[in-house]
Amino acid sequence: MSAQIDYNQLIPNNVNLASDRRLLRALESWHPKFINWWKDYGPDAYQEKEVYLRTAVSVDKKGWAHFGSVKMPDYRWGIFLADSNIEEKRIGFGDHKGEKVWTDVPGEYRGPLRRLIVTQGDTEPASVEQQRVLAATAPSLIDMRNLFQVNVEEARHLWAMVYLLMAHFGRDGREEAEQLLERRSGDPDKPRILGAFNEQTPDWLSFYMFTYFTDRDGKYQLASLAESAFDPLARTCQFMLTEEAHHMYVGETGVARIIQKACDVMNEYKTDDVRRHGAIDLPTLQKYVNFHFSVSEDLFGAELSTNAANYFTQGLKGRYQEQFIKDDHSLKDEPYEITTFANNMIKKEEVPALNSINERLRDDYIKDCQRGVNRWNKLIKDAGIDFEITLPHRAFHRQIGFFAKANVSPEGVTMTEEDWFKNSLSWLPSEQDHEYVKSLMIQVTEPGKFASWIAPPRIGINNQAIDFEYVRF
Ligand SMILES: [Fe+2]
Ligand SMILES: [Fe+2]
Repeated sequence: MSAQIDYNQLIPNNVNLASDRRLLRALESWHPKFINWWKDYGPDAYQEKEVYLRTAVSVDKKGWAHFGSVKMPDYRWGIFLADSNIEEKRIGFGDHKGEKVWTDVPGEYRGPLRRLIVTQGDTEPASVEQQRVLAATAPSLIDMRNLFQVNVEEARHLWAMVYLLMAHFGRDGREEAEQLLERRSGDPDKPRILGAFNEQTPDWLSFYMFTYFTDRDGKYQLASLAESAFDPLARTCQFMLTEEAHHMYVGETGVARIIQKACDVMNEYKTDDVRRHGAIDLPTLQKYVNFHFSVSEDLFGAELSTNAANYFTQGLKGRYQEQFIKDDHSLKDEPYEITTFANNMIKKEEVPALNSINERLRDDYIKDCQRGVNRWNKLIKDAGIDFEITLPHRAFHRQIGFFAKANVSPEGVTMTEEDWFKNSLSWLPSEQDHEYVKSLMIQVTEPGKFASWIAPPRIGINNQAIDFEYVRF
């Protein structure tokens, strides 16, 4: 089969694929396996439908994407590196600060760079697997389309990482590329690498929370890798961020529309009991926030990390928007204040900035999460309703770092393990909450119609109408 495919044609790219026979051969043998994975573990049951999708076709800021209806297996997963002025570009941090960026992997950093790329790459197909059955309960065609858009782009991010592995890591890279298709989200024998990517995305409230909170972790990881001295990695990640922004937009507007619907019902029926009218009540939504935020916080790793310090010193992974930070960018003697936990007390402590790179990135992430929460709260306030969504304290419900052993309420109060568990049903979605949300998950496929628990979006996709046939049945 592969002999008849012109891979340079099939794979939109700006990496001069046509001239690299070795790379082309590697991709040729990987592509059919990818397609098999996509058909078996990508979106269930909708592979033959035409979906109105965005496809990346270049890195031109003004027109990088093309919109059109396409069957997902025919989607053209491309490989793009953001533009770079390679002659002038210098490393911005760590021991190599000021030197020219690398176009090849330095021998001494092969291992850690490979690990960084594989860890990032693993999350991409993982989220597709987590979301594979959601279309069956899509609340509208536009929502179904948004799900598929996120899915094909996560798969393209897999391509982006596989390209780096194959182009720069030889045989090892080809083996890693195979394994990226072999690990499986939630499979106890061959799980995905990071915990949050083995959790289920069982319903659409979870999907929107995931795209708001967990894709945003992705944004911060990609932004740190976009600082890398290894220029192909930096440029790949920079371009991935363009697509990632839409995933977070899907999450933020999805949650906003659920809030809107709850408020509308409360006002129309003059009741707090919106469940009676098939909407999702704000206290339940708050519990989902508590869960998804805390699980996503864990993705940043331990507060103090020698690995992260080494990645930084070696120039492999920087901080968020490194060039805007006012310090020496080598962190030999810089302090940073973090929150710690000892003797059952939460307190602030000054530690070396170099060791607290993860925590700093988590701080940036939390600030960013808060901005969207503020916009959600404005909707509630504008509806005249007295309720505020809050991000839980960073110590709440953590599995990694100082707070893994702590029992802390969303407000940041420490308590006994027993008290924590007694209260946890009011903080995290209970079995009943899950059952209720699940009971609302009924597929709506009539163009322009929406399920009972979510308001229509304000605008369609790419200037199309809300009732456009985003997925053709
Ligand atoms: Fe991604
Ligand atoms: Fe994403």
